[in-house]
Order: sequence, then C-alpha cells, then structure tokens
Amino acid sequence: MKKQDELFRLIKLEEKRQRDTLMMIPSENYTYPEVRAAVGSILMHKYAEGQPRRRYYQGNEIVDQVESLCEDRALEAFQLSPDKWSANVQPHSGCPANLAVYNAVLEVGDKIMSMYLPDGGHLSHGWQLPDKKVTLVSKIYNVEFYKLDPVTRLLDYNAIEEQAIKYKPKMMISGGTAYPREIDYKRLSKIAHRVGAYYLSDIAHEAGLIAAGACKSPFPYTDFVTMTTHKTLRGPRGAIIFCKKEFEEAIDFSIIPGLQGGPHLHSIAGIAVALEKTKTPEFKKYAFQTVKNAKELAKYFSEKGLDVVSDGTDKHLVLLDLRKNKTNGWVVAWALEAAGIVVNRNTVPNETATPFYPSGLRMGSPALTVRGMKEREMKLIAGWIYEIIQKYSNIQTPSEKDARKTFVSGFYKRIEKDKLLNDINKKVVSLCRKFPV
Ligand SMILES: Cc1ncc(COP(=O)(O)O)c(C=O)c1O
Repeated sequence: MKKQDELFRLIKLEEKRQRDTLMMIPSENYTYPEVRAAVGSILMHKYAEGQPRRRYYQGNEIVDQVESLCEDRALEAFQLSPDKWSANVQPHSGCPANLAVYNAVLEVGDKIMSMYLPDGGHLSHGWQLPDKKVTLVSKIYNVEFYKLDPVTRLLDYNAIEEQAIKYKPKMMISGGTAYPREIDYKRLSKIAHRVGAYYLSDIAHEAGLIAAGACKSPFPYTDFVTMTTHKTLRGPRGAIIFCKKEFEEAIDFSIIPGLQGGPHLHSIAGIAVALEKTKTPEFKKYAFQTVKNAKELAKYFSEKGLDVVSDGTDKHLVLLDLRKNKTNGWVVAWALEAAGIVVNRNTVPNETATPFYPSGLRMGSPALTVRGMKEREMKLIAGWIYEIIQKYSNIQTPSEKDARKTFVSGFYKRIEKDKLLNDINKKVVSLCRKFPV
C-alpha cells in the first residue's frame, strides 16, 4: 500500500504543476471531468477485438453501442455523411493511426511524400536521416520530403507539384507539428491526384479548431484524414481515422488484425464525450478564442522585433526563431520553465542546430484559452516571455560534449537563483490562481 501512496502522491504533485504553471505546449490541453470519468470507467475491463457487431469476443452488446456512438459522433462533429465517409475510432494514438493508413493501401517499398520534419513535419510521416532510417515507416516505404520556401518559410505549392511529378509518390501527406499557417488542402489534393497518389491529411493538431470552424477543413478534398483526440479537440489520448467509404474495409482490416489487438473502449468512450462537446457554443467560443490568443502572442513578439516564423499564425501555435537573439530553444525553454511557463524547444525552417538544442521555441494557446484567458492575459504572458528571451540572449550551448556537460549543470543552477525568473514565477502563479483549471 505504501508504494501505491507514493504513486498517488506523484499524481497530486503533477496536478499542482498543471494548475500553477502556464501550459503552453501546443499539443497539450485540459480535458473535461466527464472525459476523465469515462476513461477511468469499467469499460477498461472489456476485450472487444473486431468491429461493432463483428467481434471475436463475447459480451459486447453494450460496448458495441459505445463504439458505434463514438463513430457516429465523429462523423457528425465534422459534418460528414455516413454514406460517403467512415470513422475508425480504435487507433491507440496518432502514430499508429498514420501507420494504419499506410498499411491499408500501400505495399512495401511504395513511395510516400511528406513534409520535412525540421520544417514542422511529423516523425510518423516517415522521418529518416540521409544515413539512417530512423522510423519503421521509413524502413518499410520509400520516403521523400518537401521543404518550406526558405525565404517565406511557407509551403511552396509550385515546388511541391514539381517534386511530386518527378517523384511520383503513391501517398502524399500534409500536416505537422509546427506549421503555423493554414494548409491549402485543395491544392495539395489536386497535386496528389494528378500524380495518382492518395492524399492523407493529418490534422492531429488542428482537429478541434476544424470541428469548430475556426480553421479550414480538409474533408472536401482528401481520401484519408487522421487526427489525435487529445490536442485542440480536448479529448483523452487517442486517434481517429476518417476515410472515404470505399476504404472502410481496408482501414478496419489494417487496424485489426493488421496492427492492433483489442480497442481501448474506455478511451473510445472518452473520445465520444469530447466529440459531443465540439457541438456546443462553448466549444466554438474556445476554438475561435484559441486562434485569437495565438495571433495576439505572435503580434506582440513581432512588434518587439523577434523573428516569428511565417510572420504570424492562423491557428493555435506560434514558432519563434531565436537565432537573431543569439540564443537557442534549449536555453530559453529551461529559463521559461523556471518561471512557470512551459513551452517546447523546437526546430525551425532552415535549421542549423540539432533537435535536442534547436534554434526555435514553439508555443500554443489552447490550454490557456480553456482556463478562460484572453488577449489581455496573452499580452501579459508574451511580455514575460519577451523579458526572459532578452535576458537569455547571447547565450549559446557549447557544441563540444564535455564543455556542454559543464555548461548544462551550471545553467540549471543559474536559472534556479535568477531573481527575474523567480519574480515572474510569482506573477505566473498568481495569474494561474485567477484562472483556475
Ligand atoms: C501531426 C501529428 N501527427 C501525429 C502525431 C502523433 O500522435 P501521438 O503522439 O498520439 O502518437 C502528432 C503528435 O504530436 C502530430 O503532431
């Protein structure tokens, strides 16, 4: 029992951390008490391999209804006709959802074309280095990446089209983790279909914003859409694959027996709760405010002369390139965390550093918006972030290994004692208390 006490003590500590810090990692969010109730429910006791009403286990009369309800709610949330679209709510998370799409329609060795990871793409789109097949996807399929225009740091659709004509992929993927602008789904769909490729749009990040109408929808143009359910959608950890009706059987078969065993029915129930919430006026308000809040952050940083990638944002995230300030994402992210502001260090377009000590900082507005914060609070927070960037400018992480080790341990001590960070932390905690989770 003592050991269990230790675990629950840690959960309490994490609860306090989430309450008293500013959660600004764009892929994180607070979910609803009802979602937590569903995920923690007795549904986790049940095995249900297969699809609703086509199971390999007995005793599924009720969980069949749970899963079907979730599928129906998924289609409704994105205003899709069940005659044309199908939703599979079983993927355990975003990476397996993407793998399941490839596994459904591609053969070993087929070609995938996706966004370059350091420019904002995602690992699960087949990331590989020139001399190392990093992901399983890159070992199974041939992958080529498209990059952003190095000057505008935006997608260059003409260049993508030229590349696709030459490369002739069988699958084109859009979406990623750090691209702050809307994607022209129509144009990418045209390019993919022109070269005979399937088009998969991964909207892991934007799902909630799209459901609410705060960002454009890819559904009119794509063959497949994948999304995680735990980011802007505000559900539990999980994922959904949407596909045109003609691929329904292939997707179901790809999930089980292709990749997974029993579905996590407790998570599926939580997803069903979150999907229903997307239809409420409160959710729409949250989604539109999330975008307004991110825009406010970007505007503040631009006015202060920071290098905001793509000069702004259309959605929930802002990406800063810190090279102009002669510092990097590692240095600033740790300093911000010491002040209670939790963001990501991130690679940026035209990256010259490593992913562990990258040049950029990625931050998002969804979780702050859930707490009820608006433009006024964004200005305040952006001001604190700016002050910290200023103070931690002209600091470089040494590239030589031993020097770096000494630098890192000294740096942790330095931020612990920094009066500016401690003072800002007090203001952060006070702001958090004003906007309780
Ligand atoms: C674009 C994109 N696709 C897929 C994923 C993978 O999701 P998961 O971490 O649930 O596997 C992520 C997660 O950050 C993502 O941003």
